[in-house]
Amino acid sequence: MKSKLLVIVGRIGVDDAGRKRGEMTRTIIGECEKGGIPYCRIDGSASWDDITEGDAIVVYLGSKAKLSGTIEQCQNRRLPLIIASSGVSAEKDIPKDLVIPVILAPNLALLIMALFDILPRFGALAQLLNCEADVAECHQATKTSLPGTAQKIAGFFGNPPESVGSVRDNAAARAMLRIPKADLEAFGDHYIVVSGHGVEISINFRTLGRSAYFAGLMFLIDEVETFQNGLDPGIYHADTLLFGQAG
Ligand SMILES: NC(=O)c1ccc[n+]([C@@H]2O[C@H](COP(=O)([O-])OP(=O)(O)OC[C@H]3O[C@@H](n4cnc5c(N)ncnc54)[C@H](OP(=O)(O)O)[C@@H]3O)[C@@H](O)[C@H]2O)c1
Repeated sequence: MKSKLLVIVGRIGVDDAGRKRGEMTRTIIGECEKGGIPYCRIDGSASWDDITEGDAIVVYLGSKAKLSGTIEQCQNRRLPLIIASSGVSAEKDIPKDLVIPVILAPNLALLIMALFDILPRFGALAQLLNCEADVAECHQATKTSLPGTAQKIAGFFGNPPESVGSVRDNAAARAMLRIPKADLEAFGDHYIVVSGHGVEISINFRTLGRSAYFAGLMFLIDEVETFQNGLDPGIYHADTLLFGQAG
């Protein structure tokens, strides 16, 4: 990240059930402070009135319900927008009349984005070969949002979102998956098993903590900033933007 202000749109608080909410927002703020990266938070320390055209890049971490307001503010100020919340659909949730680049980044971890770049072809071939695929995930017990990464992977293999197996149980995470105690508050563990024609292929990937997401966000912003006159208006998928031309 060079010189632009990072505008973080996300609420921080404790919900009615006493759960801490907005941990991604907290993490990104904490990492910006550690790294001396200029930032402000909407729904907190700043209002849109403080932010002017061309001097900022926006990352959205709120709910789908509030997304349209953020898109409108970004459009008015010609600010590029990275949507890091999960469950946002390019077709249903983003207007067609964009005058800014909108980047969908539901999983910012770099290696996982790289996997997203190659898995669709494997999934298509597995379907062609009539193979079976099972996708399951385990996250911190406090996760309430949809398992977007696992659902997307299931889709690559032709499976519906509801086919994904999910575990939200700290004891199972500790005892069966050996998630370190220190990471029980923030982890993601994904399993893909594809079988057919006498072969079984398993893929497992795991993130511990949230620092992988911040590293990916910085990498993505650097990529966006390499476009001298900015990215053209439109919808981009982070994995394609970063790795689509690779290899
Ligand atoms: N891109 C990535 O790599 C990545 C990684 C991890 C998580 N995520 C996604 O990023 C988003 C934010 O993650 P998170 O772990 O921070 O989610 P979270 O704990 O669920 O917190 C943010 C959400 O909580 C809601 N909320 C309800 N009551 C609240 C309260 N009292 N205070 C604050 N917020 C409250 C917010 O709603 P409002 O927006 O309506 O205010 C917001 O949608 C989620 O969609 C998650 O799936 C993305």
